[in-house]
Amino acid sequence: MNVTVCPASSPLYGTFAVPGDKSVSHRALLLGALAEGTTTVYNFLRSADCLSTARCLKALGVAIEGLEGSGPVTVTGRGLSGLAEPEDVLDAGNSGTTARLLLGILAGQPFTAVLTGDASLRRRPMGRLTTPLGQMGAKILGRQNGALLPLAIRGGKLQGGRFTLPVASAQLKSALLLAGLYAEGETSITEPAKSRDHTERMLTAWGVPLVRRENTVTLPAGRRRLKAQTVSVPGDISAAAFFLVAAAILPGSQITIKGVGINPTRTGILEVLGAMGAKITVSNRREVSGEPQADITVTAGELKGIEIAGPLIPRLIDEIPALAVAACYAQGETVIRDAAELRVKESDRLAALAQELGALGAHIHELPDGLIIRGRPLHGGEVSSHGDHRLAMALAVGALAARGPVTIAGAECVNISFPDFFSHLPGTIRFSLTDA
Ligand code: S3P
Repeated sequence: MNVTVCPASSPLYGTFAVPGDKSVSHRALLLGALAEGTTTVYNFLRSADCLSTARCLKALGVAIEGLEGSGPVTVTGRGLSGLAEPEDVLDAGNSGTTARLLLGILAGQPFTAVLTGDASLRRRPMGRLTTPLGQMGAKILGRQNGALLPLAIRGGKLQGGRFTLPVASAQLKSALLLAGLYAEGETSITEPAKSRDHTERMLTAWGVPLVRRENTVTLPAGRRRLKAQTVSVPGDISAAAFFLVAAAILPGSQITIKGVGINPTRTGILEVLGAMGAKITVSNRREVSGEPQADITVTAGELKGIEIAGPLIPRLIDEIPALAVAACYAQGETVIRDAAELRVKESDRLAALAQELGALGAHIHELPDGLIIRGRPLHGGEVSSHGDHRLAMALAVGALAARGPVTIAGAECVNISFPDFFSHLPGTIRFSLTDA
């Protein structure tokens, strides 16, 4: 599907909410499946990725209700050892979180499962997870020595251990913690920088206390049981990011997004937009289901380029496409470094951003681990999403402030994380859909 986004004819103004957080939605289903009792999930994100997690869990014998409606979703927990051997291949679709967290769980199951995904996911690195899961005792077979999907996994009697991750990654950390639930002894994971900690918060709240020190999390030895919970999923800051950037780059704009998750491991975008010159106000802070949330107001400002690197990167890893667009509308140079991980996301995001923003006239230079962008407004044109939801949404936001309409090919991929994205674009924005 092609979508054409026209330049906004007026500033953005208004108050609205964004859909539920993708990371928390996945985890609510996965932990709900392993818990004892019925878990109820409010504000569950009904996007293609989270529905992939639901589909895989159903194939493992888990009853999940309410996915079709708009109310809460319920998961009937089967306890840690109640999953059933799937009859067919499990398909994680486009979802890295589904594939990796599920592999962690499957590593502890006394049966064989085969897991695959779409063409993008089948290219993404799994060896960084299958190696430690193999060390814990799981048997895993797949292309390139178990480094790529499809993977066949036969869980086993697992042994805990100490693992040092090569990259800050919540998916790897979470997968090893989930495998650790099934392991003898303690499982301890150290990251080079802190990635999002939703799994740690949720495991603790669900009855499995963890020890957390700096960048290390330890699941102690002993019997583990998860108790079903009621979860209210906060608004997704990674979805909000596109509107925060839109309001920041369109002069005269001011918007408020209500009920957004502001877990400190996710709020790098707020710090960066503030440092670039947008006015960010965080109000009505509260804690819901163990996660901080708040209303975020952003007011457009004269933006200037900055450097984004180091431990900040994992705190805004999914927001870099949106921030690259903000950089196009900033004075001077924005330098993004230490972000080589972006090359193995749903697309090679560094190459794709350089190519597509470049096609719209951006002054953008690709580094091995980042981008250098010199501010210069975008013009209209035709671009591709590369099948990557965050790229499609970033390009749409760039189009709002561009000098002409931008047609995005393959825009349907927004379904992966934000199915209503285009209808959320405020009424001042015209867009049209055509079949590719
Ligand atoms: C996610 C973790 C991040 C992020 C992804 C969701 C998660 O990946 O990019 O969109 O829910 O754990 P990594 O932590 O593997 O970088």
